[in-house]
Amino acid sequence: MPKRPATTPPKRPSVTPDQGPVLFKRLHPPGAPLSALDFVEQLGLPRATDEHSGGTPTRPYTLLNMVSTADGRVTIKGRSGPIGNRADYELFHALRTVADGVMIGAGTLRTERYNRIVDDPDERALRLARGLQEEPCACLLSRHLDLSPEIPLLADPAARVVIITPSDARLLDCAARVDYIRSAPGQPLDLRAAMSELHERFAIGVLLCEGGPHLNAELFAQGLIDELLLTLSPKLAGTPPGEQLLLMIAGASFDPPLELELISLLESESHLFLRYRVAHS
Ligand SMILES: NC(=O)c1ccc[n+]([C@@H]2O[C@H](COP(=O)([O-])OP(=O)(O)OC[C@H]3O[C@@H](n4cnc5c(N)ncnc54)[C@H](OP(=O)(O)O)[C@@H]3O)[C@@H](O)[C@H]2O)c1
Repeated sequence: MPKRPATTPPKRPSVTPDQGPVLFKRLHPPGAPLSALDFVEQLGLPRATDEHSGGTPTRPYTLLNMVSTADGRVTIKGRSGPIGNRADYELFHALRTVADGVMIGAGTLRTERYNRIVDDPDERALRLARGLQEEPCACLLSRHLDLSPEIPLLADPAARVVIITPSDARLLDCAARVDYIRSAPGQPLDLRAAMSELHERFAIGVLLCEGGPHLNAELFAQGLIDELLLTLSPKLAGTPPGEQLLLMIAGASFDPPLELELISLLESESHLFLRYRVAHS
């Protein structure tokens, strides 16, 4: 499993090294138990899509992975770590082994203080065996580029980073290799065009988005998410009086609501792992 600096709490629960992989029960469609790595191996993802884009250029096939309590909370004390279990942690990392790029909103990057995306040598070897780059590209969204170069991902010279931004600023003192996708001067960022550029310039065919809620809202609103992988944790966290809490999608609402179609359902320790296809109108 990827190591994280002692100062950086893991995004999801950690495991003891000699435990074998968690075996998920397959509830739908039914089948023999399987590990997270087996599950991602069987996803059968297209390397890119243009089928929903109405003639606009091809963009990466995009999965969103999120974890939520049963009552809809995506953070507890501001973090996602306390929500999931070990199976969720393993799935979170296994998904990174099949993606060409991992997309993260700046809010999540700052809060969760991301490390390099795949630092486990076995997982890096697995990616190479699958014909992928050893390291997925970290695709960061930021308007203001207020990103500390001390965030472990940005401080790692081995990390590959693409920053998608309407700003013409650059990150200074950043050890990671950083490229930029920018909007035309003075123009707002066109997310769909940025996604196409990820595909064309950086050969990203499968993009894994890891949130957070404000970025999710924009991606869903523009029909840029193809699948939602949602871990539903058997916890109720409630809402402290007077506090505004983040749901999975923040800053946009959909009327009529977006429709999802269940592709598969796994279970481990009462956590449910839902794989949904997002209907595009
Ligand atoms: N439960 C889960 O699975 C899960 C997953 C992820 C995150 N989280 C939690 O969610 C929280 C963070 O979420 P959040 O909604 O506050 O932040 P977020 O969605 O991660 O990031 C929002 C930021 O992304 C940038 N951004 C978004 N849309 C953009 C666009 N179109 N163009 C350019 N930049 C854009 C902006 O960055 P700038 O501010 O730099 O301009 C914006 O402030 C954290 O507490 C984290 O723990 C939970």
